[in-house]
Amino acid sequence: MNRGPSLDFPAGFTWGAATSAYQIEGAVDADGRGPSIWDTFTHAPGAVADGSTGDVACDHYHRYAEDVDLLAGLGVTAYRFSISWPRIQPTGSGPANPAGLAFYDRLVDALLDRGIDPVATLFHWDLPQPLEDTGGWLSRDTATRFADYAGLVADRLGDRVKLWITLNEPFVHMSFGYGVGSHAPGRALLFDAFPVAHHQMLGHGLAVAALRARTGAPVAITNNYSPVRAFGSAGAQPGDADLAAAAAFHALQNRLFTDPLFGRSYPAELPFDLAVVRDGDLATIAAPLDALGVNYYNPTGVRAPDDPAGPLPFELVPLTGHPTTSFDWPVVPDGLHELLTGLHREYGPALPPIQITENGCSYDDTVGPDGRCHDPDRVAYLDGHLRAVHRAIADGVDVRGYFVWSLLDNFEWAEGFTKRFGLVHVDFDTQRRTPKTSYAWYRDVIAAGRLP
Ligand code: FCB
Repeated sequence: MNRGPSLDFPAGFTWGAATSAYQIEGAVDADGRGPSIWDTFTHAPGAVADGSTGDVACDHYHRYAEDVDLLAGLGVTAYRFSISWPRIQPTGSGPANPAGLAFYDRLVDALLDRGIDPVATLFHWDLPQPLEDTGGWLSRDTATRFADYAGLVADRLGDRVKLWITLNEPFVHMSFGYGVGSHAPGRALLFDAFPVAHHQMLGHGLAVAALRARTGAPVAITNNYSPVRAFGSAGAQPGDADLAAAAAFHALQNRLFTDPLFGRSYPAELPFDLAVVRDGDLATIAAPLDALGVNYYNPTGVRAPDDPAGPLPFELVPLTGHPTTSFDWPVVPDGLHELLTGLHREYGPALPPIQITENGCSYDDTVGPDGRCHDPDRVAYLDGHLRAVHRAIADGVDVRGYFVWSLLDNFEWAEGFTKRFGLVHVDFDTQRRTPKTSYAWYRDVIAAGRLP
């Protein structure tokens, strides 16, 4: 068999899978966990597409050992999970809840027993509700609270977690949660949500310091990036206004949460009131990082808004001519190569090594009468995107790892259980786990260290 070197990944490349606490754990009342903004949000009528909540989700809190077995069977070298802040601090401040810490202690040890590196995200959107009641991320105090919480977690797990990620996708949390209100906490402030951006970034910087004071393990932040494509109106070539709209969207999604990490100020293209930014904040935010977490799902089409005086300086345009997932997201593997080489170009030597902390797709997967779950579209998706990563590495981008979103079908935020992203199918009535074809495919890729 021809085993040329062309599709080999570098030795030591991290092969992973990812999840987040609220999407899989369930057990929302167990062992002293406090309420999070997602508990409140999902219990409000009409907030979630299928009316579901994360109350039970994948019941991972009780079934984590079985899920670690699934990770071990997959052969991943790392597992990215998130820690539920309201399990550690039920009210968002004060001493740690011992039972909450003990759960992650057991999880981390179970991973290490199987030779899997624990990668812990500290904030994947499940803010303790009492902190939202005092302003949430609109309040500067939440940044300080976040650093305190990071310190409590690192005091307990700092000797064993191999990579820390402060925040997951602060762009989505700001824009969906506080900008348009489709996610918790359901605020619709548009550009007045800017304090949420700044206080998350400040919380990140303060948490980096809290982690560094307690552990020598590497520290990162995860952003979701989307290459932007400019379009003109009604099929015309993009004009100057369309290009300006594309630049504004690029500033909002890709630069707002990245420029200040690398010593730049917030992008000037956007109508933000920067009054909340105090002297010294940008220096705190620019604390050196050991890695940049990159989540990628698809590029974004943008054109000028019909009404230049409207609330947003851009209008989103659906991308056509690509296959789509069950989320109607276009499948564009080249976009991942474009994004990785773009970050490399844009930030140059300031850019730390990259970990692809999420990439994946949803399809309407079912378990057939033969008891199997065939998901050839997911295999094609992962194959295409891993090829794009491989090409980016060959082009000089320092990509050190890749985590599939997600290990399990899970609670997909405002879409509830209607979107399945897992390598493993979950029957939410019985909690039965069925590894899909993509699980076997990824297992073989990991074992070989190369694409077929
Ligand atoms: C990302 C989130 C993750 C999951 C995927 C599909 O934006 O970080 O929790 O919902 O999208």
